Amino acid sequence: MSARLDWICHAGAALRGSVRVPGDKSISHRALMLAALAHGSSRVSGFLEGEDTRATARILQQLGVRITAPSAGERVIDGVGLHGLRASAQPLDCGNAGTGMRLLAGLLAGQDFDSVLIGDASLSQRPMRRVIEPLAALGARIDSSDGRPPLRIHGGALLRARALRTAIASAQVKSAILLAGLYADGVTRVDEAQPTRDYTERMLQAFGWPIEFGPGWAALPGRQSLQASDVQVPGDFSSAAFFIVAATLVPGSELLLRDVGLNPRRTGLIEVLRAMGADIRIEAPHQRGGEPTADLRVRHADLRGIEVPREQVADMIDEFPILFVAAACATGVTRVHGAAELRVKESDRIAVMASGLRALGIDVQENPDGALIQGGSLRGGAVESHGDHRCAMSFAVAALRASAPVRIADCANVATSFPGFEALARGVGFDLHVATQAQMA
Ligand code: S3P
Repeated sequence: MSARLDWICHAGAALRGSVRVPGDKSISHRALMLAALAHGSSRVSGFLEGEDTRATARILQQLGVRITAPSAGERVIDGVGLHGLRASAQPLDCGNAGTGMRLLAGLLAGQDFDSVLIGDASLSQRPMRRVIEPLAALGARIDSSDGRPPLRIHGGALLRARALRTAIASAQVKSAILLAGLYADGVTRVDEAQPTRDYTERMLQAFGWPIEFGPGWAALPGRQSLQASDVQVPGDFSSAAFFIVAATLVPGSELLLRDVGLNPRRTGLIEVLRAMGADIRIEAPHQRGGEPTADLRVRHADLRGIEVPREQVADMIDEFPILFVAAACATGVTRVHGAAELRVKESDRIAVMASGLRALGIDVQENPDGALIQGGSLRGGAVESHGDHRCAMSFAVAALRASAPVRIADCANVATSFPGFEALARGVGFDLHVATQAQMA
């Protein structure tokens, strides 16, 4: 667990320059897992050096996989094949990472040894029945603490392929089922409540597994094999999102965000911000590791509130904390519905953002599956990120428009997804510093 970290942020001048955000978190987790199960050696470049993805790497090492780091952002994984993992005598610590825990639950359900998955205080409160139940339907045996971690996964279960329908839109749940399906006899099929990010499917294909998929469904036969493959990880759209909104909000700003992954299941925020009036241009589109990738040029624009279309929610599920900040600075009202999942992320993101923005003078009404945000003027003050990385970075962006300094408590977990955020942000003009205890008192 990292030491406590608080920030103090002041509004400043226009933001200028170019930024290359760290590698995609979802892709980095999956690249490690599939490379570990493949035959041969895979090289991952652009790997996210975040605490979440490093936790997954450590766990795979505990399970007997050799992983080396020739340089920062690079990993070489010597795959052990589908049946080459070995039991760990110690629990497997996923840290803050819901993705790590849920995907590994699927992967470990097919092993012939027992495993225990644990996490930090936040992850230990997060719901796991969403993976336990579908995995049990495939024959897995997983004990939990009333539906929450730790997860005790019993090895040696005979997995039987089935067609399953997910009740909530979750790429993590879909991926857990598919990873268990690698070990099942017959064809495992998932039909989703709503289409979600398809990185697991794309990457299985790249590693040579015969999978079929389309928006909202995927089907694969079990008991095939994975062949090593090199993975180039594009920049994480969810990390770019803080700079997209920052440049939009501060008059006179222009930022170029380089090499950002633009998988259509991730970019709902672009559509929504454009509908609010944002000026976001896509330049130099190219493919990186099989993913649509481009540079984004963002200029300041005045925003107006909108009703966020429900069909966009899954495509921007990680971007609501920063959307709340954009809405707070827009003219008029922004309404969010159909986003109850936000209540079970790293924090209850509806509650955390609503109370933080209220502390800064914004009128926010919560509802069970979203919020109504009345745009207004931000004042300074003290806000609590509740250890949620995306809420902490969102409040740092809010401070750019505040009339007095904003103190943000509990920011250490920014390192889970965005190591180096502070330096990159300062480099384009954020006035953001580590706060002393006296400043936070
Ligand atoms: C992720 C899926 C999303 C997202 C998370 C990463 C993934 O969770 O919030 O940050 O890598 O599959 P859900 O699929 O549970 O919504």
